[in-house]
Amino acid sequence: MAHHVGNRGVEAAPFGELPDGREVTLYRLTNADGMTVEVMNYGGIIVSLKAPDREGNVEDIVLGFDTLDGYLSEAYRRLNPYFGALIGRYGNRIDQGRFSLDGTTYQLATNDGDNHLHGGEEGFDRRLWQAEPFSDENGEGVILHYVSEDGEEGYPGRLEATVTYTLTDDNALEVSYRAETDRATPVNLTQHSYFNLSGEGDPSILDHVLTIHGDAFTPVDETLIPTGEIRDVAGTPFDFRQPTPIGRRIGDDNRQLARGGGYDHNFVLAMDNAPLDAPRSAARVVDPDSGRVLEIATTEPGLQFYSGNFLDGSVTGKGGEPYLKRSGFALETQHFPDSPNRPDFPSTILEPDETYRSLTVYRFSTDADDD
Ligand code: BGC
Repeated sequence: MAHHVGNRGVEAAPFGELPDGREVTLYRLTNADGMTVEVMNYGGIIVSLKAPDREGNVEDIVLGFDTLDGYLSEAYRRLNPYFGALIGRYGNRIDQGRFSLDGTTYQLATNDGDNHLHGGEEGFDRRLWQAEPFSDENGEGVILHYVSEDGEEGYPGRLEATVTYTLTDDNALEVSYRAETDRATPVNLTQHSYFNLSGEGDPSILDHVLTIHGDAFTPVDETLIPTGEIRDVAGTPFDFRQPTPIGRRIGDDNRQLARGGGYDHNFVLAMDNAPLDAPRSAARVVDPDSGRVLEIATTEPGLQFYSGNFLDGSVTGKGGEPYLKRSGFALETQHFPDSPNRPDFPSTILEPDETYRSLTVYRFSTDADDD
């Protein structure tokens, strides 16, 4: 099953069985620079991502587990952090799990208090995807395919989703999404990796220096549903237009930070999609300790910055360390939360005669590469 080009290639290996006996496969993508990404077909989960620091030391910088059982355990399901997973049909929350479309009201599964979160009880993060590895001039990758049947988690229409992960030789991980439906339905796919650029298991991301290219964010109510306001970041702890340590203002006396327990907010990058061949620069994160740099570009109009506020040490990760509050951050490229109930937000409705397309590129480098 290996597709080797020197060190470069994709290897597939068994990664265990689901409780119903279905087998899960782990795909390891290796590029010419020695960077590796491991993805499994369960949930399309990124299990590991190893990138060099400024001295060339390669470390795993995403939160997760060594074994499939880690992702299936009681403790993990209780915490439900969606480590590394593909999220669908809808990234983030829909108010009361309810929306109207073409005169019909739909009730989705509610799995976050009264709200719908990340696709419901059994979102795309818990589905077994069909997988096809590939190796070509663009890089090493795996194509994942999942059919979400009409009515799944309450959604209308049969949705066919394809997600392609490609690791390029210049240390970028490209995640491209495509979906088609036979009835109008909301679609908002994203990737839910938690990064700690000092290496997973490191206790805190608060010293990471973050830039977000967003002039506004969408404030939330007590249940983390957008109020509908689009608020300028100027003069608030949400202004990351200049590089700022994540921890600098996270403890400020601010109602929005209090509601999120820290940052758990959608930033407005734009009010429309960028063309597929011209994703916009969304964010940059620098870890001053290791020198690792992560840059994210996307065609999506929004970016959820989540500072790992609900991590609580109740699960222990790959390196044997408990994942503490704020030991990882997520930057989820997406449309805005609750868009099906917000006509003023960019639309998330996919019609049967359309194709959903979205691209996000995560580029890894170090501050030693800077001139
Ligand atoms: C949400 C958080 C949620 C986390 C894990 C993030 O995308 O914004 O509110 O707790 O996912 O479920």
